[in-house]
Amino acid sequence: MDKFVIDGGRRLYGSIRAQTAKNSVLPLLAASILTEQQVTIREVPPISDVFCMVRILRELGATVHFREGDVIIESADAGEHCISSALTGELRSSVFMLGSLLTRFGRAACAYPGGCDIGLRPIDLHLNALKRLGVSIRERDGYICCFCDRMKGAEIALDFPSVGATENIMLAAVKAEGRTTISGAAKEPEIVDLQNFLCAMGAKIAGAGTDTIVIEGVSSLHGAEYLPMKDRIEAGTYLIGCAICGGEVEVEGVGSDCLGLLLHKLRENGCKIHTKNDKIRISSSGRLKCNRRIETMPFPGFPTDLQAQATALNATAEGCALIVENLFETRYKYVPELIKMGADIEVKGRSAFVRGVSGLHGASVTCGDLRGGAALVLAALGAEGVSEVLDLTHIDRGYSDLCGQLKKLGAEIKRVGA
Ligand code: UD1
Repeated sequence: MDKFVIDGGRRLYGSIRAQTAKNSVLPLLAASILTEQQVTIREVPPISDVFCMVRILRELGATVHFREGDVIIESADAGEHCISSALTGELRSSVFMLGSLLTRFGRAACAYPGGCDIGLRPIDLHLNALKRLGVSIRERDGYICCFCDRMKGAEIALDFPSVGATENIMLAAVKAEGRTTISGAAKEPEIVDLQNFLCAMGAKIAGAGTDTIVIEGVSSLHGAEYLPMKDRIEAGTYLIGCAICGGEVEVEGVGSDCLGLLLHKLRENGCKIHTKNDKIRISSSGRLKCNRRIETMPFPGFPTDLQAQATALNATAEGCALIVENLFETRYKYVPELIKMGADIEVKGRSAFVRGVSGLHGASVTCGDLRGGAALVLAALGAEGVSEVLDLTHIDRGYSDLCGQLKKLGAEIKRVGA
């Protein structure tokens, strides 16, 4: 397995452009089979979660091409409605396919989903919502099997604003008979992107970005070409990297409204932030103050996908920080690896108590999940001496070129094959 070798201690300077958002592209790919016509999704990042989703689409009978960074999906011949356990096990987002498959074929089956090992990640909200739309669900041999001739619009109230459940309901309700209302919907910018994409295909959806989404079922959807939003989590990762290392970095493609609380927290650390349209510029002396408290919350709160990176930052800031992870219960697997580098962090349940130390030292550390892996890379960039970050398969799920982007900013990082 590949590893990164990082010689830490260099400041970061320069400009980079964020890739297209993983968490937008995945549901868009799931949505692409809602029509028999051609769909083009532009500037899709070459990450392994995308390749896995494309394998799922092909398994369903769709023809999928990659052309100059775009992905072109033709699903006229699609006919399969069951996603094998090998593929669902690799990618949790395959659960979105239930909504799309039900809309297109009236039936769908998939094994229980996989993805990052960061907690229980149940799918009860998805399944209860599908039942509200009239779907019959049975479990057989580890597969969730769903049937419905034509779904009927319904009022669905989510107990928690789940991103995936909100997207799945949109995909299931887009051609259902009548009106579906989702209250307590997730408000993440990726939900707005999915609404815009579905509307470009002829759907009638309004309200994404607020907690109530209204979907008027339409009788047909057509092909579309769509450029999804840029990756706010990737952008946030580089901003935190610059905060840790010191320097001045501009990230292009993501507006401040997508990162909300992160920018506030970085200012609290002592960084200077300037935003203009879709550019965010950060400058950092590298000598930071701890955040008193960071608590992950659904959007517009502090994103759980930046929790690990923020903990890495606080590990070498002055003072103490309390980090509270409210979304996923086992999202601190990277902490023992940071401790190998000299961090002083104690985890109790959903909380991590960070006592900032004056600096970390290089070590050999292993990625256990996607964002935890990114946090280890950032910690290594700020540490004194050489680090090895092992097992890049998790990082490859979400960052198309973490090494190249960081090199552009002046980091001493190289990818070494096993
Ligand atoms: C999406 C993102 C992921 C991000 C997360 C939260 C994608 C592909 N992934 O994941 O990067 O970390 O949002 O911002 O977009 N839950 C239930 N029952 C359900 C569904 C969810 O209890 O049926 C719980 C989960 O266990 C978790 C919380 O709701 O505690 C948030 O999950 P959710 O918003 O659904 O996250 P994902 O869509 O899986």
